[in-house]
Amino acid sequence: MQKWVVANWKMNGSKNLLEEYKNAFKKSNNLIVCAPFTYLNETAELVFGAQNIYHEAKGAFTGEISAQMVSEFNIKYCLVGHSERRQYFGERNDIVRKKAELCIENGIIPIICMGETLEQYEAGKTQEVLELQLRECIPGKNNFWIAYEPVWAIGTGKTPTIEEIRSVHLMLREKLEKTVLLYGGSVNASNAEAIFGIANVDGALIGGASLDLAAISAIYSLASG
Ligand code: 13P
Repeated sequence: MQKWVVANWKMNGSKNLLEEYKNAFKKSNNLIVCAPFTYLNETAELVFGAQNIYHEAKGAFTGEISAQMVSEFNIKYCLVGHSERRQYFGERNDIVRKKAELCIENGIIPIICMGETLEQYEAGKTQEVLELQLRECIPGKNNFWIAYEPVWAIGTGKTPTIEEIRSVHLMLREKLEKTVLLYGGSVNASNAEAIFGIANVDGALIGGASLDLAAISAIYSLASG
């Protein structure tokens, strides 16, 4: 079955990488490129997502970008609540929820990121943390996706076991019947097949490996196979 591949470049990439993606993934409809704002454009060649929007609709917020502005460029997806936003920019669950609501109001599907820290993982609190994040982050209206990204798995080369991912995604599926559920955190060309094979994993959110064309191409072919 076809899976979603969502590339999160974070504050990386270049015009050159954008060109490489256009050549490699022209007209791919299960690949979403969350590139920095300066690289988002209305090209029909790639499906783009934003990495963030501001949590107010408009106003005197110098340097910020609104959901409506993003939607004017025909961008249909936006990451919200990524753990790096939570860690470095102090985003709390209530802000994440506001962002998700603004996305939906503007016809953008928010990809709401959540996951436990290492400390919470080691204390066996993963499900509890996710239940709280679900209660506080998810918007009233339905059109959102969830990305389960354990904070300790991001950029570390470590991942939960297959069984751990399976059990989190089962819990999410029981609560969110029709929502697209992604897994993120150290997905690479070697572990992608096993991760795509887990029940209720509809795709992957990929950071580091998305900057390497060979790696993301390999992951993409596993997702499309
Ligand atoms: P890595 O794939 O580099 O671990 O990053 C995951 C991530 O944060 C995607 O949003």
